[in-house]
Amino acid sequence: MKRTKIIDFFKHLDTLEIGGTVSVKGWVRTKRGNNAVAFIALNDGSIVHSLQIVVDPAKFDAELLKKITTGSCIHVIGKLVESQGKGQTVEVQAEQIELYGTADPEVYPLQKKGHSLEFLRDIAYLRPRTNYFGCVLRLRHAMAFAIHNYFNSHGYVYLHTPLITGSDAEGAGAMFSVTTLDLNNIPKTPEGKVDYSKDFFGKPTNLTVSGQLEGELGALALGAIYTFGPTFRAENSNTPRHLAEFWMIEPEIAFYDINDNMDLAEDFLKYLINYALENNYDDVKFLNDMFDKELIDRMKFVLQHDFVRLTYTEAIDILKNSGQKFEFKVDWGVDLQSEHERYLVEKHFKRPVILTDYPKEIKAFYMKQNDDGKTVRAMDVLFPGIGEIIGGSEREADYDKLMKRVEELHIPEKDVWWYLDTRRFGSAPHSGFGLGFERLLLFITAMTNIRDVIPFPRTPQNAEF
Ligand code: 4AD
Ligand code: MG
Repeated sequence: MKRTKIIDFFKHLDTLEIGGTVSVKGWVRTKRGNNAVAFIALNDGSIVHSLQIVVDPAKFDAELLKKITTGSCIHVIGKLVESQGKGQTVEVQAEQIELYGTADPEVYPLQKKGHSLEFLRDIAYLRPRTNYFGCVLRLRHAMAFAIHNYFNSHGYVYLHTPLITGSDAEGAGAMFSVTTLDLNNIPKTPEGKVDYSKDFFGKPTNLTVSGQLEGELGALALGAIYTFGPTFRAENSNTPRHLAEFWMIEPEIAFYDINDNMDLAEDFLKYLINYALENNYDDVKFLNDMFDKELIDRMKFVLQHDFVRLTYTEAIDILKNSGQKFEFKVDWGVDLQSEHERYLVEKHFKRPVILTDYPKEIKAFYMKQNDDGKTVRAMDVLFPGIGEIIGGSEREADYDKLMKRVEELHIPEKDVWWYLDTRRFGSAPHSGFGLGFERLLLFITAMTNIRDVIPFPRTPQNAEF
C-alpha cells in the first residue's frame, strides 16, 4: 500500500478519502493516553504538524505498545476519520502498527518539548528531529530554491566558482590552507621555507573566502551570473553572526552601476521574504509563535517599505549626534560595528538601510574609486536584528586606477594578473554583491544565533558532526 505523507493530511485532504485506509510512516513525537485509548503524535518531516494516531490498546500487543516511545519510528496502517479532538481535522485509527526502530527513553536525548537551543546545539546531529529545526531546514531549502528561481527567471547564469583557490586577493579574512603535505614531515627549500613545489598544486592554496573575482570573469562574458556556494573564513570570531563555513550568493552584472546594484539587492531580498511567507507560511508561523511574536510583522514591514539609502559619511554624522553610548567609538574612517549598524536600522530609521561610499581604507581593492579620492562605491545592506546582510559594490573598471590600488596595497601581481586582464581586454562597468545565506535565514527564522540556521555549524573548536 502506498504511503501517504503527513503534509497531505493538512494540505491536500481533498485527495484523501474519509473512512478509507491509509498507510503512514514517521517518528513519534509524543505518546499519551491511558488503558482505554492512546494518542500518538506522528511526524515525518514533510510539515511541521504531526498527525494524530488513535490506538485502542486492547487491539495490540502490550509489549509492542510499550516500545513505541518518543523518537521511535513506526509504520501505521489505519482508518482515516474526522477528528473529535481540537487541533486537527482528521486522525488515523490504527489497525496495524509495525515498529521500525526503537528509541530507548533512558538514553534518547530528545524527550521533552521545549529544549533550549543551546542544549540542541550540543546534539546538533539530532536537531533535525525537532519541530523548530524541521522548520529551519525546510525554510533553508525553500530559500535556496527561491534564489535559483529568482536568478533563473531574470536571465542569470549559475556559475560554479572554485572552492580551492591560489589567491587571497579579496582579503576578506583569514583563510584555511589546503595541502596534501605531511605536516609531520614538511619538505623544506634550501632556505628553510616550506617547499610548496612538492604540494598537490605545486603552490600554496586555500579554501575560498568568496567567488567574486572569478564571478567577474563570468559576468564580463555572459552579462549576468550568480554564484551560490560555501565560503570559508578562518578568523577566530566567536559571534552569533559568524561561521567559519557559510554559504554566499554572489550576483555579478555587466553594465550595472551602484544604483542598479542597490535596486537588485532590494528587489531580491523582498522576493525571498515574500516567497517564504507565501510558500512556507506554516514554518514561519510556528517560529513566530514559538520564538518571536514579531517575526511575521517584521517580514511584512520590510516588504512594505523602501530601504533607506544614504552614504557612510551621512551615517557617521547620525551616529555621532545620536547621544547613544557605543562600545566602539564612531569617527569618520572606522569600520562600523554591528552595534552601529543596528542603531541605524532599529532605532534611527526603523527600516532596512543601504549605506554607500565607504572610506577606501576599510574596503577591498576592487571597488570603484570615487572622484573625492577618499571613498569607494561600496554598498552594505543592513537589516534589523542582524546588521550587515549584504556587502557589495560597483567595481573599478579602469585598469590604471585598479593597478594603482593593487600596488598601494602590495597585492602580489602574480596572484591577480588574470583578474587585472579583464580590465585590459574589453573592460566594462559592472557591479555585484554577496548575500550571506545564513544571515538571510536569521531574518526569516527569527533565530538569533547563526549556529541555529545551518545543519552542521563550523565554528572555532567545533567540527564534531
Ligand atoms: O561583505 P563580504 O565579505 O563581501 C564579499 O565577500 C564580497 N566578495 C561580496 C561581493 O561583492 N560579491 O561578505 C558578504 C556577506 C556579508 O554581508 C555577510 O552577510 C556574509 O557574507 N558573511 C558571513 N556570514 C556568515 N559568517 C561569516 N563569517 C561571514 N562573513 C561574511
Ligand atoms: Mg562586508
